[in-house]
Amino acid sequence: MKKATAIAPANIAFIKYWGKADPILNIPLNDSLSMNLSSALTKTTVEFSAELKQDAVVLNNKELSHKELKKVSKHLDLLRQRANSQLFALVQTTNSFPTGAGIASSASGFAALTLAACTALELKLSEKELSALARRGSGSASRSIPNGFTYWHKGSSDENSYATSLFDENYWRIHDIVAVVSSKKKNFVSSYGHELAPTSPLFPGRIESLPQTISEITTALKNKNFKAFGALLEQEALSMHAVMMTSQPSILYWLPETLEVMHAVQEMRTQGVAAYFTIDAGPNVHVICEEKNAVAVMNSLQKLDCVENYIDNIPAQGAFLVK
Ligand code: DP6
Repeated sequence: MKKATAIAPANIAFIKYWGKADPILNIPLNDSLSMNLSSALTKTTVEFSAELKQDAVVLNNKELSHKELKKVSKHLDLLRQRANSQLFALVQTTNSFPTGAGIASSASGFAALTLAACTALELKLSEKELSALARRGSGSASRSIPNGFTYWHKGSSDENSYATSLFDENYWRIHDIVAVVSSKKKNFVSSYGHELAPTSPLFPGRIESLPQTISEITTALKNKNFKAFGALLEQEALSMHAVMMTSQPSILYWLPETLEVMHAVQEMRTQGVAAYFTIDAGPNVHVICEEKNAVAVMNSLQKLDCVENYIDNIPAQGAFLVK
């Protein structure tokens, strides 16, 4: 039977992917580094069948509309082409986290879809090939294929732009506690932001300084030097947001509540709790801390009126098949 089920995690980038060298192939302008998230999983079952007249996608028990379906179908076309198959598919997918919780579902979604569909099509692929294929659906999905802490080598072609694991999920038990301040859908999709990035006068400086930042953050990760690691990831998030804000037109993802949490995190540090923030293309704040401080961070976040709820994550394995 041409059917398979896979689970894949979302991920949080410590070095951000922002700006594309090739928007069709999703080849980025810089390397990036992320951690897979244990509480943000997508489970996807793909079944190819000669009885279907078109693809159908059911997300959290609701059939996807034309526009969303098209993106999935386009990705399936790529995989069908690899496998020399003309069969349409029924895709059933569920997210373990509330959609619109400020955790990117495209990374976990395209990673799970790629692994399940390739398996159902009996394509025998390496982890690198799977990561490169997931990238075609959404760039950050490439980083949700390998385990734990993953590194996306920007590469220069469809074949050599993929992610590999730097350290597995058991390497370092740090937490990403996502402070949800708004569950509304974001006003700009990230692909539009990627396109605008080079219009910021700050962008060339960011690209030029990234190799140094990447080398420093990788060393901090290797030495489990949390303070150095945290300071670098916080600065890196601000660098990406500075580019966003100074693009033409400008993109401002922060809400007053976002700033309130950012200040609260910096205040935690003055109280001796080593916590640092990072923010993706949205208003919610990811608070990064070590295991020993996780409870203190959650308690502090809970006291803030602006925080609707929080989602606690530890490092997770990459995409895997379910029997
Ligand atoms: C801010 O992977 O969503 O989360 O390739 O167009 O699908 P597409 O973009 P996407 O961009 C993610 C941007 C980010 C930073 C990151 O995850 O590295």
